[in-house]
Amino acid sequence: MTTLDHHHPKTSPEVGGIGHSVRRIEDARFLEGRGNYVDDVVLPNMLHMVIVRSPWAHAKINSIDTSGAEAIDGVVAVVTGEMLAGYNLAWMPTLSGDTQAVLATDAVRFQGQEVAAVIATDEYIARDGADAVIVDYDPLDVVTSPQQGLEESAPLIRTDKEGQVDNVAYTWESGEAASTAEALANAHKVIEIETHYPRSHPAPLETCGCVADVDSATGQVTVYMTSQAPHAHRTVFALVAGLPEQNIRIISPDIGGGFGNKVPVYPGYVIATAASLVLGVPVKWVETRSENLISTGFGRDYYMKGQLAVDEEGKITALKVDMLSDQGAFYADAQPTKFKAGLFHIVTGSYDFPFAHVVTKGVYTNKAPGGVAYRCSFRVTEASYLIERLVQNAAYELDMDPAEFRMKNFIKADQFPYHSPTGFVYDSGDYEKALRLAMDMAGYDDLRTEQAQAREEGRLMGIGIASFTEVVGAGNSKDYDILGLKMFDSAELRVHPTGKAILKLGVKTQGQGHETTFAQIVAEELGIPATDIKVVHGDTDNTPYGLGTYASRSTPVAGAATAVIARKLREKAKKIAGHLLEASPEDLDWEPGKFFVRGSPESSVSIQDIAFAAYTNHPDGMEAGLEGVHYYDPPNMTYPFGSYIVVVDLDPGTGVWKVRRMIAVDDCGVRINPMIVDGQIHGGLTEGFAMSNMQFITFDDAGNCIGSNFMDYLVPTAWETPAFELGETVTPSPHHPIGAKGIGESATVGSPAAYVNAVIDALQPYGVKNIDMPVLPDRVWEAIQDASG
Ligand code: CDP
Repeated sequence: MTTLDHHHPKTSPEVGGIGHSVRRIEDARFLEGRGNYVDDVVLPNMLHMVIVRSPWAHAKINSIDTSGAEAIDGVVAVVTGEMLAGYNLAWMPTLSGDTQAVLATDAVRFQGQEVAAVIATDEYIARDGADAVIVDYDPLDVVTSPQQGLEESAPLIRTDKEGQVDNVAYTWESGEAASTAEALANAHKVIEIETHYPRSHPAPLETCGCVADVDSATGQVTVYMTSQAPHAHRTVFALVAGLPEQNIRIISPDIGGGFGNKVPVYPGYVIATAASLVLGVPVKWVETRSENLISTGFGRDYYMKGQLAVDEEGKITALKVDMLSDQGAFYADAQPTKFKAGLFHIVTGSYDFPFAHVVTKGVYTNKAPGGVAYRCSFRVTEASYLIERLVQNAAYELDMDPAEFRMKNFIKADQFPYHSPTGFVYDSGDYEKALRLAMDMAGYDDLRTEQAQAREEGRLMGIGIASFTEVVGAGNSKDYDILGLKMFDSAELRVHPTGKAILKLGVKTQGQGHETTFAQIVAEELGIPATDIKVVHGDTDNTPYGLGTYASRSTPVAGAATAVIARKLREKAKKIAGHLLEASPEDLDWEPGKFFVRGSPESSVSIQDIAFAAYTNHPDGMEAGLEGVHYYDPPNMTYPFGSYIVVVDLDPGTGVWKVRRMIAVDDCGVRINPMIVDGQIHGGLTEGFAMSNMQFITFDDAGNCIGSNFMDYLVPTAWETPAFELGETVTPSPHHPIGAKGIGESATVGSPAAYVNAVIDALQPYGVKNIDMPVLPDRVWEAIQDASG
């Protein structure tokens, strides 16, 4: 186990290894406007594609008339599903093992679904062409919720699927039914909550798009694509189109945010590639903001019912969860094959109790496909929210302080590795320490005293806690795969003769700072300054295979691969050092950047000299060069955790609540770059705040998406976002080579419950037990009116 204290980094600031807040190497090009995004890609003879989308949520297609569009000067082609069917491309597999229409042939199943595509000499002509395509629809009955989808009278949505007789996409369960039922029957109290985690959209700044470039002479297919998982997408392309994989090159250039939105394969990618293949010129497709919001990967939309059994002493004895998932028209997120509802069954959270039973049902509805890992590991945000709401209400039922109730039920520091009742093995943790620190930072006891005083004066002040456990870093490959592709990841490291290096990764940054932090891992292991290391990623021709970046898996998996390959090169470097120092390698010691003869520190050779010798003066019989590749298959996931405390003041007259303080203590093990970690946490806390407060997507009864633009779909700005007070504890992952756990997602996972718990806490004088997210002022006001009778 590594016990690195990043307050005392092992390397100098010049080397910038683990624990240094190295400034983001990539920012220079972004700040100077020199980023290279998909829309910046311009190729000779390139055409532009615009997609015709369904205005209806559910309708039969009678006919598609493309003649008006084709008559427009500059329109080169109009593609329909019927034409794609000729190439067997009208439907494609999804990463969750379902099928999805590329262009609708028989019917449309959600508003915004792809119906035709117009290709023209410029984007504006293509858009005029799209407006001129006439589609004759017969509207059908619409399903806008999973409950409605399960009714006898509900229309069958997936009429395309042989043997599909209802709207159930999957049913899945975890844990033990009988023991959980018995514990609930024998409980001192059962705390129940029914709640909806609303649908939301990751809304990255850059929308989705691609430039497809098929060379008919060579058969080479190059697709510049906004992809969080370029290698996996290349394999899907090869399988869908039957193209030889070596001829497909996916280049994912700079990405303006992904947050899970850029994991699925979208029809636009497939249509543009097919069009380029047929037309023999490059085709660009870039979504508008509204297209992105109404048709691409949504998150959440889980209807959850939880029952928590507790005994007289205030110990949790069991948890039962029934959950309905609104999947939209196609099950098109990317869950690991074995886990239909993602890793939702981590819903037992940070607490130690023997029994749990989780039943989940995914239901098709007439909405865009949803359920992507939006700034969380697969579905863990929903799970964390449910258990934290239940725990808070349990404390009220038992007349205990919510912090005290948590402390009593936490998995204790000496219980790790901890086997959860739904089958996870938590690698490490110290939940009490994190909560204790958050309470100290907040001045918890004083806040409670102040709250009691405020209540006496008729003021509403709320203190909300959320203590969460994330599970990030899929796989191991034995349990985790996507469409059969095992969830390992890779790193290739080449140290050049002058001691500078290139690190090539199977994962792909979308703004998380990998070009900096992954260089820091190499700097730590080899002593080469981080600024001397170029990180290459996102180009399938030039990087080793990997499953991509989502669900905070980069550091736990590719970060580990990087450390391991650097260590392997260090072993080789040691042999070269022995040769240069005329000493046995066994007699050499290492300190960052050099080997020296044990006991004679003046007899040393630097990593740069060793790199030069690897190409100019390597020992007889040794292969030249200093490079290698490692595929890392993690033995387990990593389990970052934290405790958040939110203090709010609430106006009972209007229902408006304001965050007074937000304290966030996170533990992601060893922090590679403390400044980047803080940035990740700030982003996550902001998204958590948005979720609790303002950011949600709804649909009307006809299935129209309300939230198709940034006037209706409210993403937070610096104006309304509260200030954050950060704290940290460091519990290294015992199996990770540098003791790191992921952090990219934790704050979004952990914080929504803290905000909502604070509002519910403020409303305790009224006895309010739940308000669904987002906790809008009118919902608060209504809850107060209901409670006041
Ligand atoms: O997979 P993704 O990059 O989204 O998430 P991550 O692995 O949690 O990493 C997010 C960013 O934080 C990366 O730049 C990481 O290298 C950095 N990080 C860190 O510096 N220390 C950690 N213990 C975890 C992440």
